Amino acid sequence: MDNTGNSRSITSNQTGVHEDLNKVVVKHLTHEFKKPYAPFSLETFAQLNQQVIDFLAQDSSRYIILDSCCGVGESTVHLAANHPNALVIGIDKSEHRVEKIEHHLVHQVSNFIILRGDLNDLWRLIAKAEWQVKEHFLLYPNPWPKAKHLQRRWHGSAVFSSIPCIAEQITVRSNWSIYVDEFAEALVIAGFEPQVAEYKSDEAMTPFERKYWASGQQSFQLTCRFNQ
Ligand SMILES: C[S@@+](CC[C@H](N)C(=O)[O-])C[C@H]1O[C@@H](n2cnc3c(N)ncnc32)[C@H](O)[C@@H]1O
Repeated sequence: MDNTGNSRSITSNQTGVHEDLNKVVVKHLTHEFKKPYAPFSLETFAQLNQQVIDFLAQDSSRYIILDSCCGVGESTVHLAANHPNALVIGIDKSEHRVEKIEHHLVHQVSNFIILRGDLNDLWRLIAKAEWQVKEHFLLYPNPWPKAKHLQRRWHGSAVFSSIPCIAEQITVRSNWSIYVDEFAEALVIAGFEPQVAEYKSDEAMTPFERKYWASGQQSFQLTCRFNQ
């Protein structure tokens, strides 16, 4: 990861929210995502589900935080340090990234799990399991800035309809304002009231956030409460 501040800002052939967003989101909200789960996802989830059940059973003040697309897990560890009563679950599909977690154990927290997994499967399984996740973080998802790749963005994907069923609240951050605006509009189409604002802080929470800020780029943040 290059943190030296030479990250190029997003270039896209889109100048605003994608013209097909409404059509794509409505299609996904009205058709169940039926793609079979990969066996690896089912195994990963079975193990994780038991860990969550055991964790929550020990004390009624305990809760779950989900850190989706956690990369090397820096945000996962940060959230665990700030939420001692939570089990923070970081998930990323990149084996290379999730294996880098050793570097962050300096924080001396143990209330987190980082695992490799595909959120196209795991989000559906988590939504069905009704864990009652308190907060869901999705920090700097891959933007897929070409207009033709709308359906690769999370709000344009078939798994989007699971997102409101996972947690009480979601926080999404991106260095591409159109990504956050589209995500917000997709949530409005789904019947929710997201809020979008520029995001600033003294300290970056993830390596990508640090890299974008060092390059003079802004972050945009969406938050949305769901009826859980
Ligand atoms: C731009 S990186 C951001 C990583 C981290 N949140 C950060 O800010 O440093 C996006 C991450 O999303 C992960 N990702 C993309 N598609 C995924 C999927 N289907 N399931 C899980 N992780 C995924 C990638 O592996 C990558 O680590």
